[in-house]
Amino acid sequence: MITFEGVSKVYPDGTVAVEQLDMELPTGELTVLVGPSGCGKTTSLRMINRMVTPSTGRVLIDGVDVAGQDEALLRRGIGYVIQAAGLFPHRTIVENIMTVPALVGTSKKAARATAVELMERVGLTSAMADRYPVQLSGGQQQRVGVARALAADPPVMIMDEPFSAVDPIVREGLQAEFLRLQRDLGKTIAMVTHDIDEAIKLGDNVAVFQEGGRLAQFATPRELLANPADDFVAGFVGRDRGFRSLSFDSAASLDVAPLSEVTSGPEQLVLDQAGRPLGWTGAGLGSTASPTPTGGAFTSTDSLRLVTDLAITSPVGVVVRVDENGVADGVIRHTSLMQQLESRRRREVDPA
Ligand SMILES: Nc1ncnc2c1ncn2[C@@H]1O[C@H](COP(=O)(O)OP(=O)(O)OP(=O)(O)O)[C@@H](O)[C@H]1O
Ligand SMILES: [Mg+2]
Repeated sequence: MITFEGVSKVYPDGTVAVEQLDMELPTGELTVLVGPSGCGKTTSLRMINRMVTPSTGRVLIDGVDVAGQDEALLRRGIGYVIQAAGLFPHRTIVENIMTVPALVGTSKKAARATAVELMERVGLTSAMADRYPVQLSGGQQQRVGVARALAADPPVMIMDEPFSAVDPIVREGLQAEFLRLQRDLGKTIAMVTHDIDEAIKLGDNVAVFQEGGRLAQFATPRELLANPADDFVAGFVGRDRGFRSLSFDSAASLDVAPLSEVTSGPEQLVLDQAGRPLGWTGAGLGSTASPTPTGGAFTSTDSLRLVTDLAITSPVGVVVRVDENGVADGVIRHTSLMQQLESRRRREVDPA
């Protein structure tokens, strides 16, 4: 557990970067620090590994004040991923990843084997091991940065905008890989981003910072979307938070209608021989030979957000549910979906 206890940071020029910060980052969880530029996220992060010293207050790891710990030992236990990877340009990829193990005297052979294994874990091929950072793409360099931070197998990781320097598609891939990795590793992680969507997607907890280094809210992503603490947080979280919060709920609880609902009537669902949806025919739609595509189907493991999105984009306002083999086993009309979302919302507001 990482604890901030009444922590403030005033830089020598008088800038108040962090003000009276109290928060607890639980062990084994990923906590995302998010907020507008200049609100003190990097400063807070760097107080964990003592690269910045608090002006007042204390930062503790598992109850021990970091101020009293040997700096080198402390940093060995904290993997640090900095923005834009921050690799050593004149060292190869394996040499970069092996930096810390080499420092602590791990044999070269063992360190190299670990480095190559880590490269594979973060989605790089071992063929890149002997290249230099400039010979990798930005996204690949960021993966090397993550591998390097993991190399000493530290219990704590601090990550400053680790996925920022890449395009949205690569970024989504990196995020998904990182989530999978963290599910295995269960590190205690403090990660900084200025992207609220990234915070909600990755965080077990989200700490929203406000200008002047004040903590506006500390909550789970679900709580944050459902109950923003004030107007600042509500504004920062964004206007479509109701829609986005549907991503936390599974479609398993939805009542679907039988397929017989759409085998006769004005619009009809066309299935292939195995029973997989091919598309729609009927008034103004395609023919049985070339039906209008459904735009996608959902399974009971998908989220309510996906089902709602499909309902909005369906050419007939009907979404098809399929089983794990892609065989249609029910449908839901957008009117029925809206009613179910509404009664779900009422239950949340008034559980009795
Ligand atoms: N060494 C320093 N000396 C003086 N002021 C500093 C120093 N480092 C940071 N600051 C100031 O402290 C405030 C917080 O900076 P910090 O880097 O922690 O913000 P941030 O939330 O990480 O911002 P960004 O999202 O832009 O990275 C800013 O106003 C910044 O200008
Ligand atoms: Mg920063």
